[in-house]
Amino acid sequence: MTLLCTGAAGYIGSHTALTLLEQTDARLIIIDDLRTGFMENIALLQRGFGDRVEFVEMDFGDRNALETLFSRVQIDGVVHFGASLIVGESVQKPLSYYHNNVANVIALLEACARFGVKYFIFSSTAAVYGEPDSALIPVREDAPLAPINPYGTSKMMVELILQDIARISPLRYVALRYFNVAGASMKNTPELLSRGLGLGQRSKNATHLIKVALECAVGKRNGMSIFGEDYDTSDGTCIRDYIHIDDLAAAHVSALDFLRENGESAVFNVGYNHGYSVKEVIQVVKEISGVDFPVAMAARRAGDPAMLIASNQKLKRHTNWQPKFDDLRTIVRSAYEFECSLRS
Ligand code: UFG
Repeated sequence: MTLLCTGAAGYIGSHTALTLLEQTDARLIIIDDLRTGFMENIALLQRGFGDRVEFVEMDFGDRNALETLFSRVQIDGVVHFGASLIVGESVQKPLSYYHNNVANVIALLEACARFGVKYFIFSSTAAVYGEPDSALIPVREDAPLAPINPYGTSKMMVELILQDIARISPLRYVALRYFNVAGASMKNTPELLSRGLGLGQRSKNATHLIKVALECAVGKRNGMSIFGEDYDTSDGTCIRDYIHIDDLAAAHVSALDFLRENGESAVFNVGYNHGYSVKEVIQVVKEISGVDFPVAMAARRAGDPAMLIASNQKLKRHTNWQPKFDDLRTIVRSAYEFECSLRS
């Protein structure tokens, strides 16, 4: 089968593409405009899997380019990673987020409808839940959707669009609501890392907690801030469910199996059922790196909910997905080793 992977030059897309190549016989067509993605990631995939990976540099919302591509190749399924994804930035630039995360996805879905694509796997987010009632945590998929930032709203909108499309067409979808994804490929070996051939999170302007803390540990930043310590949590800082990137990637293979076997659509959380505070995460980064970098207290960041923890029971019940790297130290260590390799 041929899968179109949008945005797979990025962090989550590239790790998932690697897992799809390893665990299925699919041929991948990767499209990415390289605004936030990295050609290095594509090169690594092509190096390992040759002509099972085709790369086309384009915007996933470009109707003409989509028409040309879909006319040329029969695409069985789309795995849609391409998106703008920074919560704080979405509060500042809502129109840009709705344009990229909704309007452009409509163009992609129109191409899917015209060319009879059967399967669509959508990168959704825990941000669709907004600030869930504490009685509802770990949050289940049937909890109310009440996003508190444009990023979460944009992802919720596409989930609703997919629901409507699946009612009247053969397209079946799985929306995976990612929690806080972190870490680097467990396939990275010291040898690969030393040759700059590791897969991990490359970011031009990192904002995510573990990445920012690691950049402090390796000396790329002088220090960092904790955004708010007056939340109603055990130590006053926000709690998130951090999931290892390889477990998240594996959830896409499970989603594909689900679509092929069941002929129905579904929404699944992807997380570990437990969380860590910002302070706990920073402490683990300091322990693993052995560097005690400066950490300042700062005001709350707009759009941040106090606590987000996934119930992963539905995914476990309906698919064969089993987490393998549910351990904060494993997540941080893999990311730290990758971060060190970026320096050299
Ligand atoms: N944080 C800091 N200092 C920093 C960076 C982050 O204190 O320098 C805090 C944030 O305020 C937040 C927590 O660390 O409380 C996690 O923040 P991230 O930016 O790492 O991640 P978010 O929780 O904001 O968002 C991520 C994804 C979203 C997804 C969400 C789901 O980017 O796509 O997780 O939980 F929706």
